[in-house]
Amino acid sequence: MTGSPHPDGSGPFADAPAFLCLGYVGISSERLDDWGTFATSRLGMQLVDDAGGTAVLRMDDRRQRVIVTDDGRRGYFGWEVASASAFDRIADALDAVGVRVRSMTSAERANRFVADGIVFRDPAGNRVEAVIHPAEDPTPFVPGRTHSGFRTGPLGLGHAVLTTPRYDELLSFYRDVLGFRLSDYTAQPFRASFLHLNARHHSLAIIETETVGIHHIMMEMNNMDDVGQAYDLALADPETIGVTLGRHSNDHMFSFYTRTPSDFLVECGWGGRSIDQATWTPCELTDGPSLWGHERFWLPPEARAVAYDMRVEAARRGSRAPVHVRPGNFDVATDAVAAPAKAALS
Ligand SMILES: [Fe+2]
Repeated sequence: MTGSPHPDGSGPFADAPAFLCLGYVGISSERLDDWGTFATSRLGMQLVDDAGGTAVLRMDDRRQRVIVTDDGRRGYFGWEVASASAFDRIADALDAVGVRVRSMTSAERANRFVADGIVFRDPAGNRVEAVIHPAEDPTPFVPGRTHSGFRTGPLGLGHAVLTTPRYDELLSFYRDVLGFRLSDYTAQPFRASFLHLNARHHSLAIIETETVGIHHIMMEMNNMDDVGQAYDLALADPETIGVTLGRHSNDHMFSFYTRTPSDFLVECGWGGRSIDQATWTPCELTDGPSLWGHERFWLPPEARAVAYDMRVEAARRGSRAPVHVRPGNFDVATDAVAAPAKAALS
């Protein structure tokens, strides 16, 4: 398999993509109580069930978005597909590369609150589930702390970022076998590729590291202040901040990353761009992953220095990106706001 990113347009899903969005994530952790507290009081999720060795968390009208279990089994990723007919197409594509697929058991369907699904593993060993018709909860979402809610809907839960030493193989699996579409990629300060399924710039990213795992899950909040207030809450335990506030150069997300009770991060984001899939052209990111900020404490010192130099260069060039706002989320500033400050300076 080659890892050379190329424009999409080939493969079994070129004309009719099978996958819609990231629907849910399952996490294995013995720290269920910590997860419940973290997800509600820090992220603003809703804990709906914490009995029987499971913490079930909502972030919108879906029955569940994050499921934490202490059974010691590896976590999983639930990807929504357009229709049941996609199962056969996905199975054929996986069969062609020798990956085994099976149908969900009735117990698994009930546990995931989906009508149907198939299960397989990616080359890194991650359990992948493709599902249809996830259940909604008839009761309204109630955030765990005062919060504006999360941007989900057809964009899905957010995005997942995987780490692997088998970068080329994992990228090829999701892009060439499953039909995830390349958004962009970078070689510095680390190798990474970003893949989309819908208008969200990326629902999946793959980072080359020496370990297999989840790097982070991104959750996009409806208001910039939700992110800032989450940052303040995280500052109560500064060591829980894995990446400082900053803004990404590709999806334009304003975000910071907080450590979870597990060994990965959650990116608390706001203001991600929406892309036009019909016209999007994959490209290499040469300006670095962030316009400013995002000091990455998880990187080794040499790579952090490279990342910092790239940000300084972005600042020297005056790199800017549009701010993506939605109704109810902004007001246009006027000179009247700035006037007192001008007067004070004169
Ligand atoms: Fe991210």
